[in-house]
Amino acid sequence: MKVLITGISGMLGVDLCQTLREEYEVVGFDIKEFPSTSFLSLPVQRGDITRIDEVKRTFGELTPDLVVHTAAYTDVDGCEKNPDKAYKVNALGTQNVCLASQDLNISVIYISTDFVFDGNKDSPYLEFDQPHPISIYGRSKLAGEEYVKTLLNKYFIVRTSWLYGHYGRNFVKTILELASQKKELRVVNDQVGSPTYTRDLSRKIKELLPTELYGIYHITNLGSCSWYEFTREILKLAGIKGAQLQPITSEELDRPAPRPRFSVLENYCLRLTLGNSMRNWQEALRDYMLERGSDT
Ligand SMILES: NC(=O)c1ccc[n+]([C@@H]2O[C@H](COP(=O)([O-])OP(=O)(O)OC[C@H]3O[C@@H](n4cnc5c(N)ncnc54)[C@H](OP(=O)(O)O)[C@@H]3O)[C@@H](O)[C@H]2O)c1
Repeated sequence: MKVLITGISGMLGVDLCQTLREEYEVVGFDIKEFPSTSFLSLPVQRGDITRIDEVKRTFGELTPDLVVHTAAYTDVDGCEKNPDKAYKVNALGTQNVCLASQDLNISVIYISTDFVFDGNKDSPYLEFDQPHPISIYGRSKLAGEEYVKTLLNKYFIVRTSWLYGHYGRNFVKTILELASQKKELRVVNDQVGSPTYTRDLSRKIKELLPTELYGIYHITNLGSCSWYEFTREILKLAGIKGAQLQPITSEELDRPAPRPRFSVLENYCLRLTLGNSMRNWQEALRDYMLERGSDT
């Protein structure tokens, strides 16, 4: 089976590539040009998902059996400031990926987000809860979900949250950098979610991929915390004692895009179908910290 990953040089794309290539032939599609994708040592076609001609031509040439669509405009505050780009990439780009996949009669795994929910619930969100995004990023990703559901019969929509991995920037790396530069760290304590390690998510996608258990899935590491609590655990695991940690509110941080107050996802359908789940976020973070040596 040949799997095409869009956004293959992104944080999740790289880990997915490394996990899936253990079993499948993997090819990639990304807006970044060779040689910046050469470290993957596999065929990556340069292309823009917002260009239907490029998507159809590339898919036609690569003839995948399945697409994992991770490419997205993921800068949440950037989306708020530039809604045209957000909808163009996340909604219309996804429509293009679906149309090209429809031509080849292949299924798509679309990576979506906890930000499709408004955060007003007091218990973890199930796949059967009604999305209601409060940011442009969330709205544009939900619009992508709608294209997937409308245009395809065989699809997986995988909603995940608070990703960190070994490639590119992420919250863990930012905190470790800041802790080495500043005495005091001020971190939001009124947003709660589930930090998720990209390698754990990739392994679960690999399990789901060969099945015909199509539908919407929430896949995150288990348990939840605020960004403040997440930071406390990162500093503890890194053995950093000097930095003073100060909890602040979202209002104090004053970012352009609103974030859900509570966006914990329950891996409900995963439990009902594959009958298993994920490990907890602290255990995953511990492994990530141990494996950090090869980070780029
Ligand atoms: N990060 C999180 O916490 C999180 C949480 C929940 C869900 N997700 C979802 O998970 C997926 C992967 O996230 P990530 O954090 O790995 O994202 P990422 O690191 O930003 O990777 C996205 C990749 O897509 C590429 N891309 C952007 N626009 C494109 C276009 N028009 N055509 C082709 N490629 C394009 C990016 O290239 P450039 O870097 O050059 O733009 C990048 O290589 C996304 O769909 C995201 O919405 C992420």
